[in-house]
Amino acid sequence: KRVAVLISGRGSNMAALIEAAKAPDYPAEIVLVLANIADAGGLETARNNGIETAVVDHKAFGKDRAAFDRAMHDVLVAHNIELVCLAGFMRLLTPQFVAQWNERMLNIHPALLPAFKGLDTHKRALDAKAKVHGATVHFVVPEMDAGPIIMQGAVVVRDDDTEATLAARVLKVEHTIYPAALKLVAEDRVKVADGRCLIDGVAV
Ligand code: GRF
Repeated sequence: KRVAVLISGRGSNMAALIEAAKAPDYPAEIVLVLANIADAGGLETARNNGIETAVVDHKAFGKDRAAFDRAMHDVLVAHNIELVCLAGFMRLLTPQFVAQWNERMLNIHPALLPAFKGLDTHKRALDAKAKVHGATVHFVVPEMDAGPIIMQGAVVVRDDDTEATLAARVLKVEHTIYPAALKLVAEDRVKVADGRCLIDGVAV
């Protein structure tokens, strides 16, 4: 499957997907990295791996989210993209764009959804005295951080954890579950029924 990874920043999850996809039996190929910020750090990592990059600068579209999303969609279509992975992509997407990639667009979120949607998840998990925390890969739906869950990975929160130490452990989990989840989706083993994922016919 031809995959585009959408980033806004350093792209460590993107790098994990690129690394995983180097395995000969991996069912997806990262053919494009698309950023909404021209100097997103991950773009250089992508180029160093010989992967084509593109930038669609959201600022050029002012408040017109629909036009920004159409421009991105055009780039994706031009590259014959079949699956989209959001990896630290910090723009909300219009329902129209999301619908065009329904069950073909994945996101990684640094919390055990449905807990801690949105930003600052590690700080909020610590403030809430959560005992477990982690990361979630899910299909994207119009509502933020709300789509069918494909895979989750948990870490135990330690008494002495800081936001930084917790974030670092969760990030390691992210780098494991995102390639694993994409593999399942690319192998067509993930179906959605009643808003939930089934993997090989078994509810997640
Ligand atoms: C990750 O924590 C991801 O879960 C969140 O944004 C961060 C992106 O990090 N959506 P990176 O750019 O993949 O390093």
